[in-house]
Amino acid sequence: MSRPSVLVTGATGKTGRRVADRLIRLGHPVRQASRRGEQPFDWARPETWSAALRGIDAVYLCYFPDLAAPQASDVVEAFVDVARKTGVRRLVLLSGRGEAGAQRCEAIVAGSGLGYTIVRASWFTQNFTEGQLAQAVHDGLIALPAGQVAEPFVDVDDVADVAVAALADHRHDGRAYEVTGPRLLTFDQAAAEIAEATGREVRYLPVTAEQFHDGLVGQVGPEHARLLTDLCMEVFDGRNASLGDGVHQALDRQPVDFAEVCRRAVAAGTWQR
Ligand SMILES: NC(=O)c1ccc[n+]([C@@H]2O[C@H](COP(=O)([O-])OP(=O)(O)OC[C@H]3O[C@@H](n4cnc5c(N)ncnc54)[C@H](OP(=O)(O)O)[C@@H]3O)[C@@H](O)[C@H]2O)c1
Repeated sequence: MSRPSVLVTGATGKTGRRVADRLIRLGHPVRQASRRGEQPFDWARPETWSAALRGIDAVYLCYFPDLAAPQASDVVEAFVDVARKTGVRRLVLLSGRGEAGAQRCEAIVAGSGLGYTIVRASWFTQNFTEGQLAQAVHDGLIALPAGQVAEPFVDVDDVADVAVAALADHRHDGRAYEVTGPRLLTFDQAAAEIAEATGREVRYLPVTAEQFHDGLVGQVGPEHARLLTDLCMEVFDGRNASLGDGVHQALDRQPVDFAEVCRRAVAAGTWQR
């Protein structure tokens, strides 16, 4: 029997790239979608959705900028509607822990009438290696409005493994997996572990929401800076300071530890660039 065809959104990003690579290795027909991806696709341009969805069985739904964005639930609802009408049978939603906006989008997917799985992830360890914070780590100073809150940083390779299992196997239908790493770390502790792995000084500096916002505006523009600041203020209040067992539930193995991801990043020369 042929394997289900999959549309991977956010296919040039941290999770989408890994999800697409794994699916291709497993022999799935994969369409890699994003604004600059092989399949042109833009969340802000619904006219790009139908062509991307045509002939597709399952979708990895990785919304950008974030399910907490004010427009996200309207966009996700409209996209799910088009997907259903186009004949898609399964959705796997990448969601964020403890976000009210993400919960609204989860409910839309769960109520779609399609097979679905929610992959509800904690903060990605790869935010320090591939995301905006990679430069901060390189410069030795991670400034965030996160106080001394603890977070169970998750390896994005684990997120991708869970998403791929759900895309490939209907036994994950109807499940919501809380996907986290195996340890809670404060940002102070995370910086110390990165410093240990790199052999260089890396510090965490707790900043206020205003300081964080003002530092971001020049890099990402006012709208995205406001969204990221509000998101930090929402989730860095201790609500996510617990471990989830989604990796074990979905894959029957333990999640990869923060220190291991740092070691791999050093071996790959990540923070030298
Ligand atoms: N980072 C975390 O710690 C974390 C934790 C939990 C959940 N999440 C969720 O992960 C998702 C991705 O966030 P991320 O920050 O990690 O980014 P990312 O996946 O590393 O990169 C964003 C991806 O989205 C694409 N993209 C950007 N704007 C787009 C648009 N208008 N239309 C279509 N595609 C677009 C980008 O490709 P192009 O530039 O080619 O369009 C890229 O492939 C978000 O929904 C976020 O809520 C993130």
